[in-house]
Amino acid sequence: MMLKSRKYRTFNRKDLLAQAIAFGLVAAPMVAQADAGYVYEAGHASLKEWLLPDAAPSPDDNKYSEKRANLGKQLFFDPRLSGTGQVTCASCHFPERGWADGLPTAVRFQGKNVGLATPTIINLGYNDVLMWDGRMPNLEKQGFAGQGKPADINAGSTVEPEVVIERLNKVKAYVKLFEGAYPGEGLTRESVAKALAAFERTIVSRTSPFDRWVKGDKSALTEQQVKGFKAFVEKAKCVTCHLAPNFNDGGFHNIGLKSFGDADHNAGRFKQMKRKSMDGAFKTPTLRDINQTAPYFHDGSAATLKDVVEHYALGGMVKTNLSPSLPQDIALTAQDKDDIVAFMNALTSEQPMFVYPVLPQN
Ligand code: HEC
Ligand code: HEC
Repeated sequence: MMLKSRKYRTFNRKDLLAQAIAFGLVAAPMVAQADAGYVYEAGHASLKEWLLPDAAPSPDDNKYSEKRANLGKQLFFDPRLSGTGQVTCASCHFPERGWADGLPTAVRFQGKNVGLATPTIINLGYNDVLMWDGRMPNLEKQGFAGQGKPADINAGSTVEPEVVIERLNKVKAYVKLFEGAYPGEGLTRESVAKALAAFERTIVSRTSPFDRWVKGDKSALTEQQVKGFKAFVEKAKCVTCHLAPNFNDGGFHNIGLKSFGDADHNAGRFKQMKRKSMDGAFKTPTLRDINQTAPYFHDGSAATLKDVVEHYALGGMVKTNLSPSLPQDIALTAQDKDDIVAFMNALTSEQPMFVYPVLPQN
C-alpha cells in the first residue's frame, strides 16, 4: 500500500479514510503497511510530497498583506493584549525556543500552571486542526478565542476582552494601522484575531536540511540521517501518523503516555468528541523544527528526542486505549534509535535573524 501524503484541503478518498480513522469515526483495520514507495535518494521524485507549498494558504476574508502581518507581529508582542497588561503571546511562544517555551507545561501569570505543553506555532497556517484537542479549525478562530477568558493571554485575570479592545483603541497609532491593514473593519476582537493570524502564517519552517535533500542536495543529509529517515518510514512506521508534507495527519491518537494511567488524566480529544477511542488522544504535532522545542508530548513527559523514540520502541507505556495506528513490536536497535534522532535533527530550518517589532506608544 502506498501511503498518501496529506495535501492541504485537497483530500482524496484515501486521505478521507485516514482522517476518519484518525478522528475515531471508523476503526483502523490495522497498522498501515510500512511500504511508502520511497526511493531514499536526494531529489528522487517519490519524495516530492514532503515539500510544503511556498505560502501557507490564507482565507478569502484575510488574504496576506505585509501590512496585516506586520500589525499582527506588533500585537503578538504587545502586553496591552493581556488582561493584566503584563503578558504577551511571546511570553509562551518565544521565537528563540522554536515558538514554544521550553517548559514541560505552560505557566500563566502568577505561576498558575496550564497543565498542557505550549505547542510551537510553526507551520500552523498549513493545518486545519489547532490546539491539542483540535477545538479550533484555524488561526483566526484561535486568535479570537485566545483573547477571551480564561485564555492564556488573559493570564487568568478578570478583565473582559472588550476592555482590552477599548485599551487598544486608545492607541491612535494602532487605530491608524488597523485602518491601513483592514480598511473599514475597525479595531475589534475580530480584526485583532485576523492580524495575529496573518503574522502567524509567516512563521514557517520549510528550508531544513531534509527539504534541501528532498530537492536534490545530496550533501544536505548525513548518511546516518538518510538511514534514520528510512527507519522512520519503514521499521518504526512513524510515518503512519507523521505524514508528508508537514509530519502530521490532522488526526488524534492515544499513544500510551504514562500520564494516561492517572485517574485525573487529560481526556484530550474526548472533550470534543465523546468516543472512547478519543480518550487520551491528542493532535499529531508537526516534527518540523522539533529539536527546538524540548521537552516533548502534551504533558512534557519526554525530556529529549531519544526519550521520545524509546517511548515508541516500547509501543507506548499505558496500553489500555492505544491508537490502532500505533505500531507494536517494532524492535528498534540502539543504532536505529540514534539514526531516527539524527534524522529528526535534520528537520530544523535556518531562520533569518528575528527582528522584534517596535510597539506604538500612543
Ligand atoms: C501562558 C502561556 C501562553 C500564552 C500567553 C499564549 N499561549 Fe498560545 N498556547 C499555549 C498553550 C498551553 C497552548 C495549547 C493549549 C491547548 O491545546 O489547549 C497554546 C496553543 C496555541 C495555538 C495552537 C497551537 C497548535 O499547535 O494547535 C496557537 C495558534 C496559539 N497558542 C497562539 C497564541 C497567541 C496568538 C497568543 C497571544 C494572543 C498566545 N497563543 C498566548 C500557551 C500560551
Ligand atoms: C499513532 C500515531 C503516531 C505514530 C505511529 C507516531 N507518532 Fe509521534 N506523535 C503522535 C501524537 C498523537 C503525538 C502527540 C501525543 C501527545 O502528546 O499526547 C506525537 C508526538 C510526537 C513527538 C513530540 C512532539 C511535540 O511537539 O511534543 C515526537 C518528537 C514524535 N511524536 C516523534 C515520533 C517518532 C520518531 C515516531 C516513530 C518512532 C512517532 N512519532 C510515531 C502520533 C504518532
